[in-house]
Amino acid sequence: MDNALAGIRILDMTHVQAGPTASQLLAWLGADVIKFEPPTGDITRGQLRDVPGVDSLYFTMLNCNKRSITVNMKSAAGKAVFEGLLQECDVVMENFGPGVLDRLGYNWESIHAKNPSIIMASIKGFGSTGPYAEFKAYENVAQAMGGSMSTTGFNDGPPLVTGAQIGDSGTGLHLAIGILAALQARHRTGRGQFVEVAMMDAVMNLCRVKFRDHQRLTRGPLPEYSVSTADCDAAPRSGNDSGGGQLGNAIRCKPGGANDYIYVVVQEVVWEALARRIGGDALVQDPRFSTLAERRKNQSQMWQLLESFAAQYTKRELMALLNQLDVPCGPIMSTHDLAQDEHVRLRDMYVPLDHPERGSWHNVGMPIKLSNNRVEITRSPLLGEHTEEILKEVLQWSPETIERHRQEGAFTK
Ligand SMILES: CC(C)(COP(=O)(O)OP(=O)(O)OC[C@H]1O[C@@H](n2cnc3c(N)ncnc32)[C@H](O)[C@@H]1OP(=O)(O)O)[C@@H](O)C(=O)NCCC(=O)NCCS
Repeated sequence: MDNALAGIRILDMTHVQAGPTASQLLAWLGADVIKFEPPTGDITRGQLRDVPGVDSLYFTMLNCNKRSITVNMKSAAGKAVFEGLLQECDVVMENFGPGVLDRLGYNWESIHAKNPSIIMASIKGFGSTGPYAEFKAYENVAQAMGGSMSTTGFNDGPPLVTGAQIGDSGTGLHLAIGILAALQARHRTGRGQFVEVAMMDAVMNLCRVKFRDHQRLTRGPLPEYSVSTADCDAAPRSGNDSGGGQLGNAIRCKPGGANDYIYVVVQEVVWEALARRIGGDALVQDPRFSTLAERRKNQSQMWQLLESFAAQYTKRELMALLNQLDVPCGPIMSTHDLAQDEHVRLRDMYVPLDHPERGSWHNVGMPIKLSNNRVEITRSPLLGEHTEEILKEVLQWSPETIERHRQEGAFTK
């Protein structure tokens, strides 16, 4: 079966997380992704190592289904490899710090001039324009500056980062969408274009509904928040509030461990059934909770009632019980829970893999399921594992040409 991006070749100069997460998805969609690394490799190969001397999980989990070539772009011979590959690829991706590509002697204009049909996809912390353009960024910098941290956590506590990597992996998703759109446009025009995603912009996009609340505040307090918004000029941190039109909260369950909680959305249509199950007809008739407006006003009492009920059950028991009543809910799943979960296993979302140096390990699977795209996840490449293969197959270089470039310092492996 031809996967969706079969025939598309990507020159992937990205490093760390934001870029590699995008190119890994494109590889799973069928693109031939050439990971173009400096002679020392993507820095994450050596970061947070759990096995001495072996590519870290940080690297292996973001670089599956790619081929690795190591090229020293600071040598003339290395630049010749890069320029050769530019002619043979459909997309070039990078997420270097500001100015890095220019210092290497390239930018979008020069790359476009060399290959007018190539698409160039670039991630920067803050984009290529504006007062912040020269600044580097990592995940939490983007979360801080894109509105996520100021709206995450409890109102009386400090701003918090989310566990989900919205600054890096979230930006990678945006970049992948941009690349796919540019590929589609190229079908019509034959020309490539420049795709840029700033991490700050991506986080703002993911915080879109917080700007809904920001603007609603100008018309008065927000009744659905569990904290007072009377004096707020910005969307506040709202703990575990649902953030939507329905009330929601994380409710503690038996036996009271760190992740023994279930998130419950008290959707308007399920209140009667839920109230009957928790407190019988008396609770159904209770005027404090009879309408959504009353439940919003008295929500702390409602959560207490739910918590007393939940104390008799584990989160899994409650999940079953509440789903019988059609109440939207979800136990708080730890990574341990997820790694063991049958649903996760059946959906290929925690996939066992092998590696010649580390042995067995798992990767999180491909979340985008296409009916004609069979994703067979293969391990990440060793550093420079495919240098010769790529030079031979993609550039059609002879062993002599390869050797000459090696002598001239283009690659070490
Ligand atoms: C992530 C980030 C902060 C890392 O900073 P950094 O480790 O200093 O890395 P930079 O990208 O700034 O620089 C990479 C260096 O490696 C060099 N390099 C990269 N590939 C090379 C190659 N194939 N051959 C030779 N040198 C290479 C670059 O020339 C540059 O060297 P220079 O500083 O002498 O110009 C920075 O890359 C960044 O802000 N990226 C954009 C935002 C982003 O994606 N952040 C999230 C990452 S998850």
